Amino acid sequence: MKTPTGASAPIADSAESTAPGEPTVPRQATASAEATAPAQAEEPAEATEPAGATEPAEQAEPAEQPEAAGRIDLAEQPEPAEPEAAEQVDSPESTDRADAAEPADSTDPSGPPASADPAEAPAPPESVDLADPRFWQLPAPVRAAAFAELRRRPGPVFFGDRATGRGFHALVRHADVVEASRTPAVFLSGPGVTTPAPARWVRLMFGDSMVNLDDPRHAQLRRIVSRAFTPRLLDRVEEDVRRISTDLVDRIEKERSEDFVTAVAAELPFQVICTMMGIPERSRREVLDLVNRSSEDIGVARPLRRRFRAPGRGLRALARMQGIVAGVGRRRRCRPEEDLISALVTADVDGRRLTGRELGAFFSLLLVAGVETTRNALAHGLHLLTVHPEQRALLLADLDGRLGGAVDEMVRHATPIIQFNRTLAVDHELGGPGGPLLRAGEKVALFYGSANRDEEVFPDPDTFDITRTPNPHLGFGGGGPHYCLGAHLARQEMTALFRELFTRLPEARSVGEPQLVPSSFDHRVRSLRFTF
Ligand code: HEM
Repeated sequence: MKTPTGASAPIADSAESTAPGEPTVPRQATASAEATAPAQAEEPAEATEPAGATEPAEQAEPAEQPEAAGRIDLAEQPEPAEPEAAEQVDSPESTDRADAAEPADSTDPSGPPASADPAEAPAPPESVDLADPRFWQLPAPVRAAAFAELRRRPGPVFFGDRATGRGFHALVRHADVVEASRTPAVFLSGPGVTTPAPARWVRLMFGDSMVNLDDPRHAQLRRIVSRAFTPRLLDRVEEDVRRISTDLVDRIEKERSEDFVTAVAAELPFQVICTMMGIPERSRREVLDLVNRSSEDIGVARPLRRRFRAPGRGLRALARMQGIVAGVGRRRRCRPEEDLISALVTADVDGRRLTGRELGAFFSLLLVAGVETTRNALAHGLHLLTVHPEQRALLLADLDGRLGGAVDEMVRHATPIIQFNRTLAVDHELGGPGGPLLRAGEKVALFYGSANRDEEVFPDPDTFDITRTPNPHLGFGGGGPHYCLGAHLARQEMTALFRELFTRLPEARSVGEPQLVPSSFDHRVRSLRFTF
């Protein structure tokens, strides 16, 4: 998921140097400066604006930033190829050498296959640097082994240069991610949960996305938008979700579609959100195109030059998208209908309602948060069931009884969002008095995927087991005020789609490996061939 008011390239592009004296997984260097710099290194508390991110994204001059390549040795892993080009034919940079290549890692990103013997998993690279884009292009089992190694460390490892405050503590254990998520007065979202943090002007212009707010503004906004997600409203949405799922399965049968991502996985959540919001049919194609454009800077695999340029186009797309929804909002304010936009612009919570800009920001957040995550979960889900035929057989033997568990296990195993950041408001000892000291102003990265493989919580964590009970995964966040607002809706969508698909097309399965987009932010599937 990318927050619509900020560039999403997550923790790559990091600071200059290693952290001398830090307890580290051995590593040699990190990449550039911008991205791991805590936005509020000097003034953490109360902050709601990222002081360190005042430059427009497109004005950042990346060409002068040293690229990571050649500056670190990730255990002599061959440099993976740049995978983004296929999607970016209109990009002026698309002739880059690396652009033409396929992703180095087109296997399941979520970890080694269930059948893999952990003893056979490759050892973590000698030099692990989570802040280096190239780490995220390593084969999934290598990354999984690196995280397993990090989880064995006594405390969180700092990546970057702690002396200058550039970098982050990697929270890789279940308990640590839960603690950071549920202690919002200490672990702030306001300075920005993505890296680089959204620029101040972007936030002013496009409105603040609720993921980047702290109380009281977060609570106030969440109270308003939660009205869209009450059980009563979601019951109504359920009918739409079922109807859209049926239409999609009709269509793939008729058109003999081959790519599960474009035909189904991206389409379902997009249509659901547009229907909920009351976006007219005629504007939907344009909106989908804009969503894709506004999020094209996701991923860490492309050269810095391109990552810094992309937000220019992304922001223009965002502006247009917000313009469309603001227009619908104005019309609904005069003539409310039975849709979410009407509810949001007429809602009066704590004496206030959403402004046009807040409405635009929220719609963009829903689209980017709700479409990409669900699309990736659906695609990984189909693939997981394909490569684990015994789990598939189990599911099909009792679809109604096992689908709920299967959906949650897909979210745990695939973990669509890899990480979000928080910034320390005050000094804090992790895990209680005597625990590792995190200093005010420092950043932490909450690695949901790693928490979801925590051996202390999940027996055989790499195994895909649709009957896993309990399954306290953190795929939707670690709890606390920012817990995914759309978790229930996402489960509804996944359940409805797989029920419809397997009831009517029980032979549906993926073909070959998914084409992934290497990223430190999300486990994004670009395409997945399928048959039925
Ligand atoms: C499988 C699908 C999904 C996954 C894996 C997912 C994951 C997440 C995660 C990890 C967070 C951050 C939680 C935190 O910081 O504690 C989040 C927040 C959020 N998600 Fe989702 N999400 C999914 C689907 C959706 C859908 C369908 C919607 C809405 C249509 C949605 C809307 C949101 C919103 C609005 C937030 C921000 C909440 C806040 O800051 O208060 N998500 N999601």
